[in-house]
Amino acid sequence: MSLEPTPADRFSFGLWTVGWRAADPFGEPTRPALDVVEAVHRLAERGAWGLTFHDDDLVGFGADAATRDRQVARLRDACAETGLTVPMVTTNLFSHPVFKDGGFTSNDRAVRRFALRKVLANIELAASLGARTFVMWGGREGAEYDSAKDVRAALDRYREAVDTCCVFVRERGLDLRFALEPKPNEPRGDILLPTVGHALAFIAELEYGDMVGVNPEVGHEQMAGLNMAHGVAQALWAGKLFHIDLNGQRGIKYDQDLVFGHGDLLNAFALVDLLETAGYDGPRHFDYKPSRTEDMGGVWDSASANMRTYLVLRERAAAFRADPEVVAARAAAGVDDLATPTLGSGETWQDLVGDPADLGEAAAAADRGYGFVRLHQLALEHLTGAR
Ligand code: GCO
Ligand code: MN
Ligand code: MN
Repeated sequence: MSLEPTPADRFSFGLWTVGWRAADPFGEPTRPALDVVEAVHRLAERGAWGLTFHDDDLVGFGADAATRDRQVARLRDACAETGLTVPMVTTNLFSHPVFKDGGFTSNDRAVRRFALRKVLANIELAASLGARTFVMWGGREGAEYDSAKDVRAALDRYREAVDTCCVFVRERGLDLRFALEPKPNEPRGDILLPTVGHALAFIAELEYGDMVGVNPEVGHEQMAGLNMAHGVAQALWAGKLFHIDLNGQRGIKYDQDLVFGHGDLLNAFALVDLLETAGYDGPRHFDYKPSRTEDMGGVWDSASANMRTYLVLRERAAAFRADPEVVAARAAAGVDDLATPTLGSGETWQDLVGDPADLGEAAAAADRGYGFVRLHQLALEHLTGAR
C-alpha cells in the first residue's frame, strides 16, 4: 500500500488550516505566521495538489490594490514553480466587526451591500487563478436570539445574494460554481443552513440553483449529531456534491477540526468508500486545525496525516469490497438488492392493491436475519488491518 500522496489524489488544503496560529478564546497564538509562498512549497513537497484561501488570508482585510497585486503575484509564482493549483477560493464574511450580525443576512442593509461587493471582487480573483469552485460558508449568518432575526426575511436576502453572485458569474462568462457549506452553530448560536439537508432545500429555491451545490464538512454534520456519510450520499444523489471539507470530530461539542480520521473513524471509512465508489472526482479538501500544542514541525506532520488517513482508508475500503467473505455477506444482507425498483417494468399501483392482511411474498422476511452486524464487523476488521 502506498501512503505517498501525489497530485493525482487531488488533496487540497486551506491556507487558514496550516496557517492557523492557534489563538483560541482562552489563549494567545502558539505559532508564528506562515507566509503563503512557504505554504505552497511545503504542501507541494508533501504531495498535495491544491491550496485554497479566504481573500483575507492572502491579502489581509482592507489591503490597498498594490499590496493585493503583489500578494497574488507571489502566489501565482509559487504555484508556477511547484505545480500546485488553486481549485477553490472563499470569502471571509465573519472576522471584521461589521459582520458581527452576518454578511448577506445582516439586519443592516449597508453591511449586506458591502458583503456582496467583497464577494464579487473575490469571485473575480478566484476565476483569474483558475479556481472552479467558490465556497460560501456563512458562519455569521444566524442569531443567538429568536426575537432578533426574521428567518424568512434572512433566507430571502440569502437567496438574493447567492442569485446575484450567479448572475455575475454568468454575465462575466466565468467558469465557476458555488458550494454552500452548512454548519449548525459556532460562531453564531444558530447558523442559517445548519445541515446538508437545509442547504439542499435552500438551493431548490434559487433562481440559478444549477450553479450551486454543497460543501459538507465532516465535523459540522457530526456537531449536529448527524451521519456525514449519509449527508454526502444525499448530496451525491442530488448531483450537488461540488466540494468537501474533510476533518475529524469527536461527538457533539465545539468544532474540533481534528485531522481526518482522528474522530469518528468508522464513519470516515464509510465516507471514503462512498467517495471512491460513487465517482466523485472533485477535490479532497482538508479543513482542519493543527492542534494548539503543535510547533511548525507538528503542523506539517498533521498535514501529511490527513492525506495518509485518506490513502489508508481508500486502500482498506477497496480491500473490504474485494474480500469474498464481504461479497457473500453483502449478498446475504441484501445490500445490492435495494437497487432493484420496487415495481416491475410496466407495473403500476394496480398491481399492488389487495388485502392488506395478506403478507404474500413478504411473509418470510419476518424471520429473516440480515447479518448487518457481521458485515459491519468485517468492515471493522478490514479497517483495523486484522484482515
Ligand atoms: C469553520 C469553517 C470554515 C470554512 C471556511 C471556508 O468552521 O470555520 O469550516 O473553515 O470552511 O471559512 O469558507
Ligand atoms: Mn469546521
Ligand atoms: Mn469548512
